[in-house]
Order: sequence, then C-alpha cells, then structure tokens
Amino acid sequence: MRVYWNGSIKPLEDVRISPLDRGYLFGDGVYEVIRIYGGRLFAAERHWARLARSLRELSIAPEPEAEGLEQAIMTLIHEEGIHDGIAYVQVTRGEAPRTHAFPNPAPWPNVLAYVQPYPRPEAIMRGGRAVLVPDIRWHRVDIKTVNLLGNVLAKQRAQEAGADEAILHRGEIVTEGSASNVFIVRGGIVFTHPATTAILNGITRQLVLELLQAQGVPVVERPFTVEALWAADEVWITSTTAEVTPIVEIDRVPIASGRIGPVTSLVRDAFMAAVAR
Ligand code: PDD
Repeated sequence: MRVYWNGSIKPLEDVRISPLDRGYLFGDGVYEVIRIYGGRLFAAERHWARLARSLRELSIAPEPEAEGLEQAIMTLIHEEGIHDGIAYVQVTRGEAPRTHAFPNPAPWPNVLAYVQPYPRPEAIMRGGRAVLVPDIRWHRVDIKTVNLLGNVLAKQRAQEAGADEAILHRGEIVTEGSASNVFIVRGGIVFTHPATTAILNGITRQLVLELLQAQGVPVVERPFTVEALWAADEVWITSTTAEVTPIVEIDRVPIASGRIGPVTSLVRDAFMAAVAR
C-alpha cells in the first residue's frame, strides 16, 4: 500500500512518525473521510472547506493546500485501482517536545492521506439497528478532531450489542451518532439537531438537507428529545460511509412499524441517485 506523507507518495512501510507527534501524544490533529465513487472523489470541496475550518479552530498552520492533496489522492486512487472506496486525510500539529500549550516555535504539521476500498453498507437496504448511549464527549465536537475516544467507546457499545450505530444523547437531547448524524420524521416533518458545537456538521447531512428542500419535504433544524426519538415515525442516520442508512430498531425496540418509512426511502434513493451521477 502506498500513501501520501508530507508532500510525497511512498510505501506505507517507509513512513516514520515520531512518538513526539502531537497527534500521538494529545490527539492534537484533525481529519476528513471522503467518499470515492467510480474512482472519483465525492463532495471534495465541502470536505476541504471543513478541513480548513477544523485547522483554523485549532490554530494548526500552515494549512495543506487542497489542490495538491486532491492531486495526490487521485494518483493513489489510480495506483491502488479503487472504484468504490474512501480517502482518509489527517493533519496533526506536528512533532515537538511535550508541553500542553502550543509549542513555540510551531512545528510543521504532519499530513497523511491514503485510500482504501470501502463497500456500500448493506444496512442501507435492510435497515440498521442502533443503541442509545450517553454522549460523554467534549463540547467542541463540531471540530473534526482525531481525539475520538467518546465516539470509539460508543461504537464499541453498539458493536457489542450487535447494532450498526450508537445514537448519542446529552441529557434529554439527541445529538448525533458515534460517526453519523441523526434525523427523525414525525407527522411528515423532518427534525435534526442544528449545526452547533454539539454535533459535527456532516457533509452528508448538508447534502440530505438540500435534497429534502428540493423535494419539498418540511425540515426543522432543532434539537429533539430522546422521547421524540422513541415516538418517531422514521429514523435515519447519515455519513460519508453510511450514506443514508434507515434505522428500524433502537435498543432492540422497533421504530414505529419496524420497517423503512416513505420519507427515509425518498431521501435514501435521492442520495443514491446523486452519488451515481
Ligand atoms: N464520520 N458525526 C460524527 C461524529 C462523525 O464522525 C461523522 C463522520 C458524521 C458525518 O459526517 P459526514 O457526513 O461528513 O461523513 C457525523 C466519519 C465518516 C468517520 O469518522 O469515519
């Protein structure tokens, strides 16, 4: 496997990262996961914009140039022969003697990118299962940082329960999934948590909101409760990897009829059509 590392493409075995890299010591870095459909990057500009925002929020500079990164990823896609897959991009603050505060002078950021095959998830068609888990993460999850232990523990809970995703709640409020955004339908209206510091503003979430608007489906970006989740007619999650995955069961209790609902089918199919273009 060959990867992009700080300006050049090389075999994975030739990449050497110092144990003093702040990504390793503090989780001090950010990342993006971009879909590859038919050998092409999907919604890349939005991912580059979000990467730039994450870097700015953490004062990691200089930002790697999106154009160069995209070129390197296209080379990797070609070399590895990827059709449907994902590109992973990570930027850490770099290597410096360990101090909590930003090192002075600032180290040069370490930039990694690689591609891998990634199948379309089967839960898209069969409907997925979720578990409900308290959101124990920090309060700036709008930044796509590699510091993901709260997400890791939640996903592990889901996996141990035989479920596809963990839906997180802070007190009464449903925030998002461990690696996805959550939507519910109630009385023909779609609800999803607004893009505050309490969720990651998913690219798939943004695209789905636009698709819903184009289809004339009423959408409200407002926090909803765990009670509303249980009372929902339909639930789905969105992410780069999960796309639009219907959720038909939470904690082994069926949502409404336990079948994939009409609004979910509509957005799922509209999204699948959008990625096929
Ligand atoms: N995760 N919320 C969280 C906490 C996420 O980790 C993700 C994506 C999303 C959805 O964002 P997007 O639609 O831009 O993929 C929401 C990626 C896929 C991951 O960590 O692998």
